[in-house]
Amino acid sequence: MSTRGALRLGILISGRGSNMAAIAQHCRAGRLGAEVALVISDQPAAAGLETARELGLATRAIPWPGAAQRSEFERQAAAALDAAGVELIVLAGFMRILSGPFVTARAGRILNIHPSLLPKFPGLHTHRRALEAGERAHGATVHYVTPELDGGPRLLQSRIAVRPGESEESLSARVQATEHIIYPKVIGWRAEGRLQWREERPWLDGAPLLTPVIEEFDA
Ligand code: GAR
Repeated sequence: MSTRGALRLGILISGRGSNMAAIAQHCRAGRLGAEVALVISDQPAAAGLETARELGLATRAIPWPGAAQRSEFERQAAAALDAAGVELIVLAGFMRILSGPFVTARAGRILNIHPSLLPKFPGLHTHRRALEAGERAHGATVHYVTPELDGGPRLLQSRIAVRPGESEESLSARVQATEHIIYPKVIGWRAEGRLQWREERPWLDGAPLLTPVIEEFDA
């Protein structure tokens, strides 16, 4: 670990917050060189906000004012993130689409996790769609956020085999378990300086990352 200070994270959630909690626990255990400076939810009643409070994290609810007033949400979120000294924004089950100008102004400073092997199945209901398509492999993707929905450069993917006759619930739970491993891992890469954003693309260990790293899970 280098001598630099802990990387300050701002985590945006909308729901349960299990990824947020996994990241916070890795930070707390001193495994990442990062710390959670602030958790923001667009849903004041999100279970994840309560979990964050129980973990002793600073929280902020910024109710979603509707798509037409998205800039108002973004103005408040940006002010809160800046005031907390956030260096990396981590979308963790944040179910809103941030505007092009917000994202572009923070190029290389926003990560997202998506529950599919992107570019397959952007958008919603990914587990159901993977089953309906007869996919034999499925997983999750950590990627940089760009204005294209679920389309930014992919960094790390977890891959699992779909079991014969598997239910959507089972597949979702198995993918989520891998999310809790791969998201902290990418944040650790960034905190250690192994992952950088240069020339409008990600670099890992000094070379452009042209295809995502894939981690196989057999759980
Ligand atoms: C996660 O599975 C994440 O991949 C997904 O929402 C879930 C949130 O769970 N994100 C998206 O679908 C984003 N398009 P969590 O609140 O327990 O972390």
